Amino acid sequence: MRLFAILSLVLSIVTLGACSMQGSAPDADGSPMVSPILTTEDAKDPYSYAQPEVARVTHVALDLELNFENRDVSGTATLDVLAADSADKVILDTMGLEILSVTDNAGSDLPFEVGETKEGIGAPLTITLGDKRQVIIAYKSGPKAKALQWLVPEQTAGGKHPYLLSQGQPTLNRTWIPTQDSPGIRQTWEAKITAPEPLTVVMSGLSGGDPTDAGKGRRVFNFTMDKPVAPYLIAIAAGDIVFKELGPRSGVWTEPAMLDKAAAELADTEKMIDAAEELYGDYRWGRYDMIVLPPSFPYGGMENPVMTFLTPTFIAGDRSLTGLVAHELAHSWSGNLVTNANWSDSWLNEGTTSYFENRIIEKLYGNKRASQERALNFAAMEETIAEKGSDADITALHLTGENASPEGGASGVIYDKGASFFHTVEAIVGREKFDTWLESWFDRHAFEPATSAMILADMRKNLVKGDEELEAKLLLDEWVYQPGLPSNALRPDPAAFAEVDKAAAAYVANRTLDKAVWEKWTSAERLRLLSKLPQQLPDEELAKLDGDLGLTASANNEILFAWLKLSLQNRYDPAVPLAEEFLATVGRRKFVAPLFETLMEQGEWGKPIAKRIYAKTRGRYHAVTTGTVDKTVLGED
Ligand code: BES
Ligand code: ZN
Repeated sequence: MRLFAILSLVLSIVTLGACSMQGSAPDADGSPMVSPILTTEDAKDPYSYAQPEVARVTHVALDLELNFENRDVSGTATLDVLAADSADKVILDTMGLEILSVTDNAGSDLPFEVGETKEGIGAPLTITLGDKRQVIIAYKSGPKAKALQWLVPEQTAGGKHPYLLSQGQPTLNRTWIPTQDSPGIRQTWEAKITAPEPLTVVMSGLSGGDPTDAGKGRRVFNFTMDKPVAPYLIAIAAGDIVFKELGPRSGVWTEPAMLDKAAAELADTEKMIDAAEELYGDYRWGRYDMIVLPPSFPYGGMENPVMTFLTPTFIAGDRSLTGLVAHELAHSWSGNLVTNANWSDSWLNEGTTSYFENRIIEKLYGNKRASQERALNFAAMEETIAEKGSDADITALHLTGENASPEGGASGVIYDKGASFFHTVEAIVGREKFDTWLESWFDRHAFEPATSAMILADMRKNLVKGDEELEAKLLLDEWVYQPGLPSNALRPDPAAFAEVDKAAAAYVANRTLDKAVWEKWTSAERLRLLSKLPQQLPDEELAKLDGDLGLTASANNEILFAWLKLSLQNRYDPAVPLAEEFLATVGRRKFVAPLFETLMEQGEWGKPIAKRIYAKTRGRYHAVTTGTVDKTVLGED
């Protein structure tokens, strides 16, 4: 069966060059599942050197040792390659890797060449295969491997042991794994990881059980991912971490000092998985575990399969920021099951997920919270669109030109505009029809890459079904390919924040705010109020707000961030120590970058503060965060 599957794949390469290659389901005999690749123009990935239509990696087996002293990983990657008989070479993506040797599985050297390095893409590693279809690469990651962050003990909650965490999306995994690092080239994988005691290793694959002793104070951990995934989803973390079960198929890893707090915040996880399944079909990955990382993790969350990576900054004590968990969980369908073929269609991952996230929140916590979160996101989207210009290409869902870069979606518009698109379609066709279609879309393309053109064609075929009136109402192409917000966009319910907006208006008019009312508000309501305050406020007003609302002492990092931003943009000296403390511990780019930007905008007052703080904190941030903040703080004199 496996041979047949491979033959038919190869045949389709040769005969159906321009069509999607058929994949194969996992076989009863256990041979691995192979996903199809797309070969249409819109599915090509300009940020990868791979030529998957010639030769593609289908399976990666890693055997790596984590070296905390040198801050590198070293060992071997054994790749299975699927290629037509006539194919002689396979091209991989690498960035800063030291390639020691390439051999076949009998140990004979295979010729290889590392090409020129291009900024942001890395260098192609071209291996001459001959008739071989498995290669073993011995290598070491470079000293500045961007995916990896090596933390000193002081950056952890326990303060005693070092820590390693990785972030692969979008194109960083090529700094520690030599493979075809493109979201449209799915691979199964396995890993054997050697780490110093007492560190425990987790990965975005199922654990092979207890570690085994490797001598010299080291232990070996095994992992497997038998479902083909986009390679940016391979992730690793190692530290002094422990596990707590949350439900029959879910649990949380974190440092011992964080375990109870993390588990309490995540107590609804199993219910979230149930809600997600009720909405859009079975959870297909087996377990859903999470790791709550040290605060230097550069994102809020990352949807690594079977092991979502989370910032600890979502812990507020009241589960008010668990939309993040719903989001990463939703990616188990939108993103991990059906994946954008390249980064120009990031909205397929992020927009669909943001919609799905909101539906989970609604199911679990009710419409009040869901509609408030929708309104908050919609307002943020409108603000960004206004800032960028409603004719700016960056505000389209399908990104083109420079915006189609792996980081093109970072403006955030694709998240909320994508969600808004689906909320609009849902409102027009009705929830039942919409849900049936979305679930069927995930089913039809499970474990496959997808493009904007594909989802639109699918909607037309399976949802619009030739109804011209409906087609005219939906404005599908405008939503996906045009900048700005289409005229049919479903507006958020004004009732969602009626009370808060009234309070904000009263504050604007006469600087009064009822403290008792604030105390009763939800996290979203408080954030809404902070967003509606006058942007310019004198010190006395800021002091009063802080005193009345307890902003400095807030346990909610979103509120703390909003408060810091407001105070720094007003050159409010008393907030500087708090900003400094926050920036010294938190490395989440969404918080760190805007705070430095705000400081840098404050000329003689803010620039020296920004430079002083950054000189101290830069070394504690992940490359994702320094990549952005360097431009802001160091790029300017
Ligand atoms: N997949 C993203 C993170 C990401 C996007 C990494 C693009 C690299 C490139 C993740 O699911 C995400 O969107 N995280 C958000 C949380 C969310 C609730 C909007 C974040 O980190 O803030
Ligand atoms: Zn996401």
